[in-house]
Amino acid sequence: MSVGRFITLEGTEGVGKSTNLRFIESVLQQQTIDYQLTREPGGTPLAEEVRELLLRNRTEEVADDAELLLVFAARAQHLTSVIRPALAAGRWVLCDRFTDATFAYQGGGRGLSKETISLLETLVQRGLQPDLTILLDLPVEIGLSRARQRGELDRFENERMAFFEQVRQAYLERAAADPQRFAVIDASGTLEQVQQQIADVLQRYFQEQGL
Ligand code: TMP
Repeated sequence: MSVGRFITLEGTEGVGKSTNLRFIESVLQQQTIDYQLTREPGGTPLAEEVRELLLRNRTEEVADDAELLLVFAARAQHLTSVIRPALAAGRWVLCDRFTDATFAYQGGGRGLSKETISLLETLVQRGLQPDLTILLDLPVEIGLSRARQRGELDRFENERMAFFEQVRQAYLERAAADPQRFAVIDASGTLEQVQQQIADVLQRYFQEQGL
């Protein structure tokens, strides 16, 4: 049986992740690919509870290391009960955020060292990496004004503009360091333009995979 492929979607707040995730699903369906849609933090009952802990606004200040460990605790559960079994069964996994978000938010945003994050990545992923990562990139102020129109803000969305600038830069640095895995999409155009770029990336990927 073939092993599934692992596709992740990343970006800062308000870049259009949800809309474009549905578009990616429609492309996979057209290609008759058997896939599992999931997200981080979350994707299992336990990991969704951890997500709630992470996103909820609270008066107690959350220690950066505690935040990092919660993210990886959720990820360990998600990998064990959803991602690895799906891939082993030959299904593709389409995941809304993964460890690049940790390097971007906890690394770029909070300022934790890459070495610390890499250590946990090795422990939890044991070499498993996404096969393709689509990064939706947009100037922070545009994304934030979109996100802020959606209503109540979670603990991350309440961060300052400078935090998201650092998150965006960390994402772009990771993409530049691994152009083989990353496809950076300019998310500032019309929906049609953005989706055309995504469709091109996926078609190229399918071709490379002999599909
Ligand atoms: P989302 O549903 O908008 O993607 O919200 C998830 C939030 O969690 C988002 O603000 C980014 C944050 N996050 C991290 O800080 N680190 C991580 O590793 C992941 C996966 C998400």
